Amino acid sequence: MNILITGANGQLGLELVNFLSQKGHVVLGCSRERLDVTKWDQVSEVVWAFMPDVIVHAAAYTKVDEAESHTDLAYEINALGTRHIALAAENVGAKLCYISTDYVFDGLKGSPYGINDIPYPCNAYGRTKLAGEKFVGLLSSRYYIVRTSWVYGRHGSNFVKTMLKLAKEREELQVVADQIGSPTFTTDLARFIESLIRTDKFGVYHASNAGSCSWYEFAKAIMEEAGLDTQVVPIVTEQLPRPAMRPAYSVMDCSSIRCNGLRELRGWREALRECITQWKTTGKESMEPSLIL
Ligand SMILES: NC(=O)c1ccc[n+]([C@@H]2O[C@H](COP(=O)([O-])OP(=O)(O)OC[C@H]3O[C@@H](n4cnc5c(N)ncnc54)[C@H](OP(=O)(O)O)[C@@H]3O)[C@@H](O)[C@H]2O)c1
Repeated sequence: MNILITGANGQLGLELVNFLSQKGHVVLGCSRERLDVTKWDQVSEVVWAFMPDVIVHAAAYTKVDEAESHTDLAYEINALGTRHIALAAENVGAKLCYISTDYVFDGLKGSPYGINDIPYPCNAYGRTKLAGEKFVGLLSSRYYIVRTSWVYGRHGSNFVKTMLKLAKEREELQVVADQIGSPTFTTDLARFIESLIRTDKFGVYHASNAGSCSWYEFAKAIMEEAGLDTQVVPIVTEQLPRPAMRPAYSVMDCSSIRCNGLRELRGWREALRECITQWKTTGKESMEPSLIL
């Protein structure tokens, strides 16, 4: 398939370009410079020139705290940019896979969110991503919305890399223990997305590695898997004031993957182990820069 990827310099975008190319697809990975989703003329031109079968829309304004004070910019990218992508995909008859987030939920439910639970974001980032979902539903006739959570992997910056870096500099790390979610390894997410976009099983999917933990438990697991003895100390959210609220419990029920005959993502701890083992054995990044335009 011809697959266009937006946000191809991001941590998920880079993984997708790599993975989908290895699977034999013709991939056009577009950085922000090549395809700024806020610029309709550019979006339209690039999409008409490449004629994708599928667009995987991974570009986003992802700075959760800064979105509180840069709400217009976050809306322009996450909502209006997504509208451009949805319109362009529809114009050329492409399927659209929009990457969304567990942060569309407020975290108050206390049990895993299903695809039929009504989203109610508790921060600006979540509201703009939800607005993007709504444009997709309105404008695309063949779409998948893939909500994922707590993403980490080889590329870009993420919680795992931050913890490993801080562990070298400090003897003790304080990490919040009262926010629960599901870490997701980009390799596993890319594999799921590849299996999904081959199908015509359109709709909403929750796609995270199985199981859940707090950020504190996640940080402890990172230290254990990396063989580091840095102390991880649990704190509560109030001890770490941040501009954006986070959902206290954003675990998602991923059973729609299974129900559609696709393979669910493995447990988060096993995925973390593989990620850290890869870093130890192969070094950090192995991207073919020529694949990103
Ligand atoms: N990270 C998470 O924990 C998480 C959790 C749930 C869902 N998600 C979703 O997963 C997707 C991928 O996230 P990620 O972690 O890979 O984020 P990321 O590393 O921040 O990548 C996002 C990419 O989007 C690009 N971008 C920003 N504005 C753009 C614009 N106007 N036009 C085109 N590209 C633009 C960025 O380019 P620059 O580098 O030039 O800024 C960046 O390369 C996003 O849709 C995000 O909302 C992420």
